[in-house]
Amino acid sequence: MASTIGILTAGGDAPGLNAAIRAIGKSAIRAHGMQVIGFQDGFRGLMEKRHVRLDADALSGILTRGGTILGTSRAKVHKMSVGDKTIDMSESMVQNAKDLGVDVLVCLGGGGTQKNALRLHQAGLPVVTLPKTIDNDVWGTERTFGFDTALNIATEAIDRLHSTAHSHHRIMVVEIMGHNTGWLPLASGIAGGADVALIPEIPYDVDAVAESLMQRKAAGSRFSIVAVAEGAISGASAARLEELRTAKSEAPDKDAKNEAKAARAAFEESREGHTSRLADTLEEMTSIEARLTILGHVQRGGTPSPKDRLLATRLGVEAVNAIAEDHTGIMIADRERTAVRVPLEEVAGNRRSVPLDHPWVTTARQLGMGLGD
Ligand code: F6P
Repeated sequence: MASTIGILTAGGDAPGLNAAIRAIGKSAIRAHGMQVIGFQDGFRGLMEKRHVRLDADALSGILTRGGTILGTSRAKVHKMSVGDKTIDMSESMVQNAKDLGVDVLVCLGGGGTQKNALRLHQAGLPVVTLPKTIDNDVWGTERTFGFDTALNIATEAIDRLHSTAHSHHRIMVVEIMGHNTGWLPLASGIAGGADVALIPEIPYDVDAVAESLMQRKAAGSRFSIVAVAEGAISGASAARLEELRTAKSEAPDKDAKNEAKAARAAFEESREGHTSRLADTLEEMTSIEARLTILGHVQRGGTPSPKDRLLATRLGVEAVNAIAEDHTGIMIADRERTAVRVPLEEVAGNRRSVPLDHPWVTTARQLGMGLGD
């Protein structure tokens, strides 16, 4: 059985990370007499051997704190910037963990972290992961911790937009995070009573959106709330993106591949500020004044909700149980309120998008919420 475990938090921070660190640390120490150390700033801390001892004192008083006491970064194990070079540091990280006596590394993170963790596991460092992200898009789990808190924040923002939208008879466009999935905008849109929700899984038609806003006005509604995912995309842009993807995957040689890559990057750049342009277009098309609110990182901040604390704690304890049984190479997922062990190979490289027949999608449609199609 492992005698020392390491913990790191990687990718964007999310509420509930400290609850997970606390649960892993406390149960490892109390139930199994293990030593626990934390690496700072994600995989970079492991590469640089920057670590702190997580004893009972260090783990006390952190349950309600947002962010991560360990710090985080988006550094990738196989693409570490070292001086002016980008190097695969997996082997060296495995060695660093061994030098410090770490038997198992617990990585808390989203999709990118699951891929990094699998690399280290395959390079010889036993790894267990937990699913964390406000985006709720980690493959293999029904919930990620961080999502519930962000959902509360986004819903409250939509609630607050109602009174000002109503007073000025405006269209209020609100951009909600979620990377390339629509869990957060869709859920907060429904919970907050948005009139339209645009999510990446359903490319939108701006004419259909404008039409639904004008119909609301014609029916007597004097304002509208439009919840837009940061990754929402119009049908035309989605088609262009698909073309660019195909051009890259079918590129006959390296030059063509580089060209396709550059075209894709230019396209992504041209999409910056798309929500702002959408608000302007809707104002122009409907002749109703529109305003834009971008919630941004506010959604990731602050105290974790009780649900996120509970989820992070439950999964953290199960991670330690798995380690005590020498079961590694897995992510601890939440399915039907039960912590289950999912092989990392299944998780890494996959994304959990909103299925088009998901109950939230059908509910939204039945309520008459516009989904832009
Ligand atoms: O993955 C969490 C998330 O907040 C996404 O919703 C968003 O696209 C991204 O991180 C923002 O990343 P950063 O904090 O690096 O700007």
